[in-house]
Amino acid sequence: MSNIWIKKPLNLLLNESEGEKGGLKRTLGATNLVLLGIGAIIGAGLFVRTAAASAEAAGPAVTLSFVVAAIGCAFAGLCYAEFASMFPIAGSAYTYAYVTMGELVAWIIGWALIMEYALGAATVSIAWSEYLNNLLGGAIPYEWCHSPFETLYTVSGEALATVTAAFPDFKGAKDGILVLSESQYEQLPSNLAALVTAQDGIINAPALIILLALTMLLIKGTQESAIVNGIIVFIKVAIVLVFIAVGWAYIKPENHVPYMIPEGTPGHEGFFEWGWGGVLGGAAIVFFAFIGFDAVSTAAQEAKNPKKDMPVGILGSLAVCTVLYVLFSYVLTGVANYTEFQTAGKEASVAYAINTYMTGWEWLGTGVSIAILAGFSSVILVMLMGQSRVFYSMSNDGLIPKAFADLHPKYRTPYKSNWILFLFVGAFAAFVPGSVAGDLTSFGTLFAFVLVCLAVLLLRKSNPDLERPFRTPLVPIVPILGILVCGLMIVSLDINTLQVAGFWMIAGIIIYFAYGLKNSKLQK
Ligand code: ALA
Repeated sequence: MSNIWIKKPLNLLLNESEGEKGGLKRTLGATNLVLLGIGAIIGAGLFVRTAAASAEAAGPAVTLSFVVAAIGCAFAGLCYAEFASMFPIAGSAYTYAYVTMGELVAWIIGWALIMEYALGAATVSIAWSEYLNNLLGGAIPYEWCHSPFETLYTVSGEALATVTAAFPDFKGAKDGILVLSESQYEQLPSNLAALVTAQDGIINAPALIILLALTMLLIKGTQESAIVNGIIVFIKVAIVLVFIAVGWAYIKPENHVPYMIPEGTPGHEGFFEWGWGGVLGGAAIVFFAFIGFDAVSTAAQEAKNPKKDMPVGILGSLAVCTVLYVLFSYVLTGVANYTEFQTAGKEASVAYAINTYMTGWEWLGTGVSIAILAGFSSVILVMLMGQSRVFYSMSNDGLIPKAFADLHPKYRTPYKSNWILFLFVGAFAAFVPGSVAGDLTSFGTLFAFVLVCLAVLLLRKSNPDLERPFRTPLVPIVPILGILVCGLMIVSLDINTLQVAGFWMIAGIIIYFAYGLKNSKLQK
């Protein structure tokens, strides 16, 4: 008789984490782990969402938004650190749930982590493609860097004059060509719509290429991947530090006054759009910038000295990034006024601030774009790695097919899993618009955070005497606060995201009953 609540026995897990012969190789030290965390953390969240959060919600107080989001992450991070040092095995939150809350809950977390890691990798690879095309001045033809579900509407020549005569607020033509948004196109009567050239996307080739390159690197080896990640982290942190150091001299104190968006500011009527509410709204937007520190825990089975180094990797990368984020956002909103990020500086906000206000430092604008591309690459790399490691654990437990745990005979990496993942993530990146997956990534992450905090509470109760190389401080306060803060951020996600996430979870539960339950090793 199957039991969907069956828990994985602790001694079995501890044996597994001792490492069997021929398993994943233990090659990563503390520095590698901190770098891996920073690799996954600094990306679109910092470079793109900082300006968006200050323009839409927090104003210059986006710096406080980063502090609030960091506090939420720190609660979860402290809980992750306890588990990762206790059970240094690849499954991360999935494994922690298996020993504390049983198989079904573990499966559900594993399934939610696909949203974080696989969809996260797809989203960032689409952003990578967009940035590359920006850097190349739009040299890649539209159809080769967009999904078939996206269309470019342009109007030029005489037709442009006719359209703008009828719709004077359609502005922004460049070199005699006006790009219309979909909603603008839909407003046009059929005779004017006929003048518009519509170009459909075919495939997002650059996104596919970066995924392929990183997949091949991951298969080659964890240590090799860690070296490339280290180089990238060096580049992006250097650019962030130079921006902070140089930009400091260009801060205009008046840009920081008023510090929060005042009540009654037009366009900021909602509760989360001004004052302290705006700081919270901003925190939900910049939360994305912290996603990734938990990915360190998926590398636990490849850490040389996980008991000591896992907490250092998780909490160290989180701490370094928090300091950088606070300083970066302080400088960015001091150099340019946050209101500019609503209009002229909305896209490529950092390059905009440099090119507009920091005369003589234009090269830094290009440097930032390169750092962003490099940064996105390392985010994708660690996300893909995290996903394949979670699959590795789930497959060893029999909940998904065995291929996901097959290791390469020479490189000892889960190469089949990496290839399958490439097909899945690649299909998504190549054929689905980027806007679809961003917030689902936050949902999957927050969901895992809540359950890991809960798991700490449960295991402290059921097995208080177990050896814990790292202990979450102030239990039960820290885990409870973690559950509350992350739970709040989940409910503040928009309703569409929650619906799609709901469907995803239901599909997962069906698959568990159809496959996982029947093939689970523990059930046998
Ligand atoms: N934290 C990662 C980023 O900001 C996901 O791109």
